[in-house]
Amino acid sequence: MLNKIRLCSTAEVASDLPLCVNPEGYPAIAVYNLDGNYYATDDLCTHGSASLSEGYQEGDEISCPFHGGAFNIKTGAATAFPCREALQCYPLLVEDNIIYINLEKTD
Ligand code: FES
Repeated sequence: MLNKIRLCSTAEVASDLPLCVNPEGYPAIAVYNLDGNYYATDDLCTHGSASLSEGYQEGDEISCPFHGGAFNIKTGAATAFPCREALQCYPLLVEDNIIYINLEKTD
């Protein structure tokens, strides 16, 4: 069963500066603003314990702050070594400038 969770307002996500959001009971989510379109992925790099929201966003790519690996923000695909495993992406819903995500209930 899916659970609609409020992540943040659109004003909180600057262009090219991802925001880390910690929905209670779920893994941290990185929210991205790409020219006014919003995307979300897991915040945790698939290569190690780095927070991607502390990395460097350039266009539709996020680079990990630890070892320079990178991912496509829209697809989650790993785009630079040493990252090989894709990131989990999440569809978002924007209503009245509030960004929501649907996550699977864990209980
Ligand atoms: S932890 Fe992200 S590239 Fe190594």
